[in-house]
Amino acid sequence: MNLLITGGAGFIGSHVVRLFVESYPTYNIFNLDALTYAGNLQNLRDVESRPNYTFLKGDITDASFLEQLFAEHRFDAVVHLAAESHVDRSIAGPMAFVQTNVMGTVNLLEACRRAWAGDYAGKLFYHVSTDEVYGSLGENGLFTEQTPYDPRSPYSASKAASDHFIRAWHHTYGLPVKLSNCSNNYGPNHFPEKLIPLAIHNIKEGRPVPVYGKGENVRDWLYVLDHARAIDAIFHRGKVGETYNVGGVNEWRNLDLIELLCDVMDENLGREPGESRKLITFVKDRAGHDARYAIDSSKLMKELGWKPSVTFEQGLKKTVDWYLANGAWLEEVTSGHYQQYYARQYGER
Ligand code: NAD
Ligand code: DAU
Repeated sequence: MNLLITGGAGFIGSHVVRLFVESYPTYNIFNLDALTYAGNLQNLRDVESRPNYTFLKGDITDASFLEQLFAEHRFDAVVHLAAESHVDRSIAGPMAFVQTNVMGTVNLLEACRRAWAGDYAGKLFYHVSTDEVYGSLGENGLFTEQTPYDPRSPYSASKAASDHFIRAWHHTYGLPVKLSNCSNNYGPNHFPEKLIPLAIHNIKEGRPVPVYGKGENVRDWLYVLDHARAIDAIFHRGKVGETYNVGGVNEWRNLDLIELLCDVMDENLGREPGESRKLITFVKDRAGHDARYAIDSSKLMKELGWKPSVTFEQGLKKTVDWYLANGAWLEEVTSGHYQQYYARQYGER
């Protein structure tokens, strides 16, 4: 099996690459990544010299590059994670999201269609998507695979568009596809523009921890390795043409989550209980901020026997431990351009 994983140098992609490289030594695993600000080969240092792993630097928005790549490597399957992934950046600059998430995905679909030329035996295109395509929930209810799409940010609209293109290529050209829509991930290697790693970084440095609005928005958090395990299960045992929701059964109001995180950090840093909570700072709300996401993963649980392997308390502890043990990683990714991004997003602090 020649397996192409896109976006493998990013947060979730690096955990998926590691899991597949370690679990399937007979697969040739190719990691295609443009190494944007979010891509970091440090995430994969431990697997980079494995004989079944190859890194390919390249951009999915370049259709002719993809065509050559497919001709050269004869990929049997694709797990597609490459994307622009941060909602705030999509509000500040939506076009990169249209280019990568929409055009890049269509380029990959076309590269597969051309390379496989109607002979789809043993072939698969697996698209990794988000629960944000379903929109925003009120106080009750869960997103199921039947929930109508209602994306509300440039990021979620671009991911929704990509999902529609995946299904269109399945229905029109017969391309064998699978999709999954997952809730908020957290864990090691998460880029510190997202809530949990940004808060860990700021608490560590004794800087204000920005909470949007009143901190009442709710997200459903899943440990990143459990998402990688779900992708493995769906890739190998999911049904072609189907969609699977993936979630943590783990809803948290942002403010409650940040308070818990402050307490875990106090314990780890040997600070007085309650010390880090003083850093919590309410800031201007995100434009169009979705109120609540919560996922019903019962299809994945019943059909494929998947369930989260760690509790939130365990996962958060592992995450904090990782960030405190990997100060050099955090320092490297928060130097340079990160500081300009931070100043633009939060003002000089
Ligand atoms: P990330 O931003 O950490 O990583 C994205 C990776 O894609 C980076 O390595 C980047 O270099 C690469 N990339 C970006 N543009 C590219 C291009 N044009 N060509 C090639 N590579 C490119 O993202 P993530 O959080 O790991 O998310 C991965 C995927 O999972 C995305 O598709 C995202 O929509 C989806 N997802 C994320 C979450 C989450 O909570 N982070 C939840 C559900 C779904
Ligand atoms: O639901 C899945 C999605 O989860 C993924 O598709 C996205 O790629 C991923 O970025 C994530 O999106 P969110 O917007 O939910 O994640 P983020 O970490 O940016 O924000 C989580 C919540 O915290 C959200 O309600 C906004 C809030 N927030 C975020 C930041 C960065 C703050 O209050 N302060 C902050 O500084």
